[in-house]
Amino acid sequence: MAKPKYTSHVGMVDILPDESPKWRALEHIIHEEAARFNFEEIRTPIMEQTELIVRGIGQLTDIVSKEIFAFEKGDSHYVLRPELTAPVVRSYVEHHLDQRGGSQKLYYIGPMFRAEKPQKGRQRQFHQFGVEVIGSDDPVADVETIAFMMRIYERIGIKNFELKLNSVGDPESREAYKEALREYLKPNLSKLSEVSQNRFEKNPMRILDSKEPEDQEFIKNAPVIQDYLNEETASHFDKVTKYLDDLGISYTIDPYLVRGMDYYTRTAFELTSPDLGSQDALAGGGRYDLLVEEIGGQPTPAVGFAAGMERLLIACEELDIELAEEKSVDVYFVTLGDLARSFAIKHLPKLREAGISATMDYMSRSMKAQMKDANRENALYTIIIGDNELNEGKFTLRNMKESEEDSLSFDEILTKLS
Ligand code: HAM
Repeated sequence: MAKPKYTSHVGMVDILPDESPKWRALEHIIHEEAARFNFEEIRTPIMEQTELIVRGIGQLTDIVSKEIFAFEKGDSHYVLRPELTAPVVRSYVEHHLDQRGGSQKLYYIGPMFRAEKPQKGRQRQFHQFGVEVIGSDDPVADVETIAFMMRIYERIGIKNFELKLNSVGDPESREAYKEALREYLKPNLSKLSEVSQNRFEKNPMRILDSKEPEDQEFIKNAPVIQDYLNEETASHFDKVTKYLDDLGISYTIDPYLVRGMDYYTRTAFELTSPDLGSQDALAGGGRYDLLVEEIGGQPTPAVGFAAGMERLLIACEELDIELAEEKSVDVYFVTLGDLARSFAIKHLPKLREAGISATMDYMSRSMKAQMKDANRENALYTIIIGDNELNEGKFTLRNMKESEEDSLSFDEILTKLS
């Protein structure tokens, strides 16, 4: 086939008609489970102010320093949203959602944009669903957030994963830990990778997330944050693990789990799957108790997660999980001649109003070609209409699977199929 003149951008993929049913099925599950958890949907614009994203996620993070799609128009600095935590918090502050009372239990589904090198499970436009619970300090909020995330995979039938859990501390615990980490790394600073050396002063905890081979032996024996948590943070973490135990949700405590954004405090978690290859993170999240204040609101604790939808669908494929049924249409009108076509177009709405999906040939094809098309469309029934049928007021209703035919009036067909 000739190469098309226009193609989509690298890492930005079309979701084609054969793919969209499983997306809808997944979205349906998310909406349904969110309703069961009493979470409310929030939809924010695709673009945000660059400064919000830089402040929210952190200037030195990979996302901000390498991966944002940003541009200027007039005096405005636009960025395609790389994630939704900062935008949801922006919306919460801007619209005073705290005044609705209680904690805001929000969820979302939508596209995100990161200028990463595309590979399996990593795109430049990808989709996330997620939850942000804003206004609660209670470990119950952490655990409900995790429980919702786990519920989606459980319902779909993805069971092969690992939930990694850590506390990244509150500012006080973190300062103590960072100090200890610097102390430990300092004698070998020159042996660390360049990226890690750059992180040493400002953000030594991110060194723990390094994938560089030369860093690994130093990370392996680094001090663990659990030894530096103050009483309050340690007690919060204990409650989170206790509630998870009560729910029977298994997890591994990974003391070196740090996440890719600067806003995290206390609980941090990641769900990984061995079915995904190198991009193995299905979902991740945690607390961000300082973010609301950071972007101009009142001090407000919050917790959330986001999950990659493409990665979830890859896991489904690996596990042979079919999210959507095979596409079909209830009725296909097979028409012979103009009168038949005008009868069909007039009667399509009657079927549809009765909740029966119905279509007809749009290409004035021969009867044989229409029957072939009805098969391709996976029609359950065809209604065959020609001059004789119109004169007699009786039509052939053909059950395509059973290859059985009945001669019935249109009203009888309607009753039979309703
Ligand atoms: P994140 O870990 O950056 O967290 O992204 C969450 C999930 O999005 C990842 O685990 C992965 O499944 C998916 N993902 C990320 N980048 C890509 C990509 N380039 N292509 C395909 N999938 C991708 C966040 O975004 C935080 N906002 C999560 C959060 C919410 N924390 C608190 N609240």
